[in-house]
Amino acid sequence: MTEFVFFGGKGGVGKTTVSSAYALECSDTGLETLIVSTDPAHSTADVFDQEFGDEPQPVEGYDGLSALEIDPEQEVQDHLQGLKRQLNSQLSAAMVNEVDIQLEMAHQTPGAYEAALFDRFVEVMRNADPYDRVVFDTSPTGSTLRLLALPELLEQWIDRLMDKRERSIDLYEKAAIGNREPRRVMEGDPILARLQERKERFEFAGEVLRNDAAFYLVMNPDELSIRETRRSVETLGDADLPVRGLVVNRLTPEPEPHEEGRGARYLRQRVATERDRLEQIDGEFDVPVVATIETRVEEVRGSILEEVAAELEITVEDEGSVRSP
Ligand SMILES: Nc1ncnc2c1ncn2[C@@H]1O[C@H](COP(=O)(O)OP(=O)(O)OP(=O)(O)O)[C@@H](O)[C@H]1O
Ligand SMILES: [Mg+2]
Repeated sequence: MTEFVFFGGKGGVGKTTVSSAYALECSDTGLETLIVSTDPAHSTADVFDQEFGDEPQPVEGYDGLSALEIDPEQEVQDHLQGLKRQLNSQLSAAMVNEVDIQLEMAHQTPGAYEAALFDRFVEVMRNADPYDRVVFDTSPTGSTLRLLALPELLEQWIDRLMDKRERSIDLYEKAAIGNREPRRVMEGDPILARLQERKERFEFAGEVLRNDAAFYLVMNPDELSIRETRRSVETLGDADLPVRGLVVNRLTPEPEPHEEGRGARYLRQRVATERDRLEQIDGEFDVPVVATIETRVEEVRGSILEEVAAELEITVEDEGSVRSP
């Protein structure tokens, strides 16, 4: 059984760093692991100093670790082309142009980006058999997290659409007089079939997310990040997808006791402020802080990534209980 682990959080807090470190930890423990990134900035490529594409590819130098980078813009384009092809085969030539324009417009709305991404996520989940664990480094906007909370809503929406479509077909059938064939029939109706297919996709996603997934939020020890995290915890909780843990990244290292001077004083003050924030986090959230990571002097990659991975206290055994009782 594959388990899916999601890392969310505000832009720049360290999602890519933490999810890469966690994936590394998983593969080190002997789990066949896939890391999925949706970051338009290709930072997974930076972390591992290797280019990744739309299909899983082994990460060089790490046994049992593969990576996949989803390009959301490309997904929207592919999604649009797919829809056009499908609809064009069902529409009269006169309609095709009009529908193309409408589709183009619909794909420029922010929701289109999320919808395409969601479809790709589901595809990854469906093809996850070769992996024990799939780690998602979700996009910075937080909308991916919101999106994950949507399957139930979307299911209801599709149910209503299907109901409408069925009633409309029913009317056509009743309206057919004499031996003239009704213009639409329930069976083989392409729109109903498509709605049904969407519904099954959402059901599948909802089930996987509720039963085989764990959510972690990455944050920094500051007010803004705490506020954003509070919102994400609520959104996910509302969708029945509880957050399993918080990772606080970028804590200031404490100077040695003998160190004096302006730099050391600054660091001590920073450490004290962050300690307050950590206490605030501990007191305010029902979700446990599962790891705290210090700020490094340089970007986290290579051997520093391994160091951070070792510091992550999200023990891999934790996930054994990913499935809800
Ligand atoms: N603990 C740390 N110490 C030093 N640098 C860090 C640390 N955590 C993250 N960084 C650096 O900060 C930058 C942002 O981190 P990262 O890319 O992981 O954030 P992100 O949440 O994925 O960002 P985005 O929202 O843009 O996807 C990177 O250059 C990363 O190397
Ligand atoms: Mg990132």
